[in-house]
Amino acid sequence: MKQVVVITGVSSGIGYDLATFLNEKDYIVYGISRSSVEIPGVTHMPGDITDEEKIQAIIKDIYEKEGRIDILVNNAGMGISGSIEGTNTKDVKNIFNVNFVGAFITIKAILPYLRQQNYGKIINVGSVASEFAIPFQAFYSSSKAALKTFGEALDNEVSPYGVRVCTILPGDIKTNFTKNREKNIEELDAYKTRVSKSIAVMEKDEQKGMTVRYASKQIYKVIKKKRMPLQKTIGNEYKLLLFIKRLLPIKLVNNLVGKIYGFKKEK
Ligand SMILES: NC(=O)c1ccc[n+]([C@@H]2O[C@H](COP(=O)([O-])OP(=O)(O)OC[C@H]3O[C@@H](n4cnc5c(N)ncnc54)[C@H](OP(=O)(O)O)[C@@H]3O)[C@@H](O)[C@H]2O)c1
Repeated sequence: MKQVVVITGVSSGIGYDLATFLNEKDYIVYGISRSSVEIPGVTHMPGDITDEEKIQAIIKDIYEKEGRIDILVNNAGMGISGSIEGTNTKDVKNIFNVNFVGAFITIKAILPYLRQQNYGKIINVGSVASEFAIPFQAFYSSSKAALKTFGEALDNEVSPYGVRVCTILPGDIKTNFTKNREKNIEELDAYKTRVSKSIAVMEKDEQKGMTVRYASKQIYKVIKKKRMPLQKTIGNEYKLLLFIKRLLPIKLVNNLVGKIYGFKKEK
């Protein structure tokens, strides 16, 4: 029997490619995003993951039509950048609302069905940025760290009902995420130079990053597993970095991250 998968954030990037790829692999694919998009073979459901009523209605619709939902990929996400001091509280609330609360809303909507069928896989798309707290992207790193911790607790809560959880930690992937990242509107003068240097490094890395198809294949490998890992890093160099991180004192790791992205010394 074909498995039913729901993916959030399908209008571009990883979500778009994953929806395409899983359709080619014979899954029944439903995709959620605010902007409309046509992906051959994929049913698009327009919706904002922060709108609880809408998401509950979409998930109910899918379940009633298919009689089952096997997999949820919480992929929708956004980024903001700039100094912590120069960030508006509204923007902080917004990124947590999308990257964390939105995933929670979607999971909460789907869990009653997964428990009822005593089966389900929840894949949350986190980021390697949750492991290396990136200066001037503090809220992005923090929102993804929250998602990762949440995934660990969730797995223990729902595994007795046949539902398992995996957080994917991708390294840099070439997508519109770079272009879509929101910058502080009025950056404080004290940080301006360092912020723009830091963001330039980040943008360059992303644009030289892995392809979305590579990411889709790695996520597919996780989905196919009988026993999913709790976390899965995407990208060999990032796996190595994480391995090294665990061997080193956190202060040293953080100083190294600061050297790459923090530009402690103005030149
Ligand atoms: N690219 C990277 O280097 C990288 C690295 C690590 C992790 N990630 C993570 O991978 C995921 C996908 O990112 P991407 O690189 O593919 O970026 P992207 O091309 O900007 O795609 C983001 C997707 O999220 C959707 N989205 C954003 N806010 C939403 C909302 N409120 N409701 C519904 N959908 C929403 C967008 O659709 P609409 O705007 O149409 O709603 C879009 O389809 C994100 O969670 C990101 O944090 C990316």
